[in-house]
Amino acid sequence: LNDWVKVKSLTPELEGQAVVVNGRAQTIRAVGKNMAFVVLRESGFTVQCVVTVQPDAVSRQMVKYVANLSRESMVDIQGFVTVPSVPIKGATQQVEVQVKKLYCVGRAMPTLPINIEDAARSDVEIEKAVQEGEQLVRVNQDTRLNNRVLDLRTPANQGIFRIQYQVERIFRQFLESEGFFGIHTPKLMPGSSEGGAAVFRLDYKGQPACLAQSPQLHKQMAICADFGRVFEIGPVFRAEDSFTHRHLCEFIGLDVEMAIKKNYFEVMDIVDRLFVTVFDSLNRDCEKELEAVGRQYPFEPLKYLRNTLRLTFEEGIQMLKDAGHEVDPLGDLNTESERKLGQLVLEKYGTEFYILYRYPLAVRPFYTMPCQDNPLYSYSFDVFIRGEEIISGAQRVHVPELLTERALACGIDIATISTYIDSFRYGAPKHGGFGVGLERVVMLFCGLNNIRKASLFPRDPQRLAP
Ligand code: 4AD
Repeated sequence: LNDWVKVKSLTPELEGQAVVVNGRAQTIRAVGKNMAFVVLRESGFTVQCVVTVQPDAVSRQMVKYVANLSRESMVDIQGFVTVPSVPIKGATQQVEVQVKKLYCVGRAMPTLPINIEDAARSDVEIEKAVQEGEQLVRVNQDTRLNNRVLDLRTPANQGIFRIQYQVERIFRQFLESEGFFGIHTPKLMPGSSEGGAAVFRLDYKGQPACLAQSPQLHKQMAICADFGRVFEIGPVFRAEDSFTHRHLCEFIGLDVEMAIKKNYFEVMDIVDRLFVTVFDSLNRDCEKELEAVGRQYPFEPLKYLRNTLRLTFEEGIQMLKDAGHEVDPLGDLNTESERKLGQLVLEKYGTEFYILYRYPLAVRPFYTMPCQDNPLYSYSFDVFIRGEEIISGAQRVHVPELLTERALACGIDIATISTYIDSFRYGAPKHGGFGVGLERVVMLFCGLNNIRKASLFPRDPQRLAP
């Protein structure tokens, strides 16, 4: 058992050594009746394994058995390492394993719904292959998602979810270093937290209830309970009707809430430093993963500044107007205006990551603090990557009378949030926070064209499986 070696550790220094390796038979090729080659894949690394008839070791029957293995089967291989005189094409490791024994521990179906090699090609590679007359099956998104376990085996997908985890890890690390700590709030709720009808309703032992649209109310209640600075990483449920490239019905919310001394600039400061740290880390620590993603889905590295650009909503509106783009100065920006503004900001300031703050009050949720100098506006912000929103945040109303007034003005059934409003009756600190969509961060950092690519098993209006 001491001979077990990872495929990625198979290097020429091991020449002559006995090894045991485990992985998937990525490709299998027989040469006559006495020889077969298996390219073995483990965690994205591949090695060529050679099965040749040898007296007392490998029989013709064994070569036949290997030649008939199905692609993607899991195999254990015992053998020894050799270094061929010519470079090896089609495998990451520059050694071969001369096979003595091979056990199939998990057989794959003979015909798979997705051919991994086809699924791993970029559009450009597909075009080229088609022009060269190669027979290949284009793998469309639904086929990929229906067979997600296979689709996830491509190098790009292996990269995407390691990048996703790195975002989560740095988010946690950074916030911990700033005195925040993690909490978990209930996902079963008596009513909506963000307003609107986009909630999944359910029956809670005879009471009407729904799945949490966000940790909003409880993360604020945690601040009222003197926790000071909190974050949560957890699922968020939205009964979205829109079938778009950037909406899911379940996504991972990265939520932050903090007591503040003066104003919501303290919250924006955290966003700024947090995301510069996240992006720096991705570029530094996920080079291999980003390269794997880029090979299949080519993208330009994200342009961002050391100090994140902040523009007021009014400045943004003015930029759009100056560019001949008509927008309602007190309405919300639609997808097209957000994209357009993203382009204008990139041209003028050279960044694809920026904060837009002081939104009109009318387009923000009831818990958002109105501006003292002009209640048509609010102490709120959105954050964009490549012209698409990844974060929304704000200072919150912490005065119960004003909170009640705002909830009523937004048409909210006060009965469903009475315990939340009560939390502010025992002395509440000034506070603010923000919510990030994890899949959106990954999608936009990697320039992916669809959020489903950044969700392990996506849930959308038409998809509840696998
Ligand atoms: O803008 P949202 O709805 O804001 C909130 O939930 C607030 N409680 C946050 C706060 O603390 N003020 O959602 C926050 C983020 C969005 O910016 C977006 O990145 C993501 O969550 N998001 C979605 N991601 C995927 N699918 C959806 N349907 C999403 N809806 C929002």
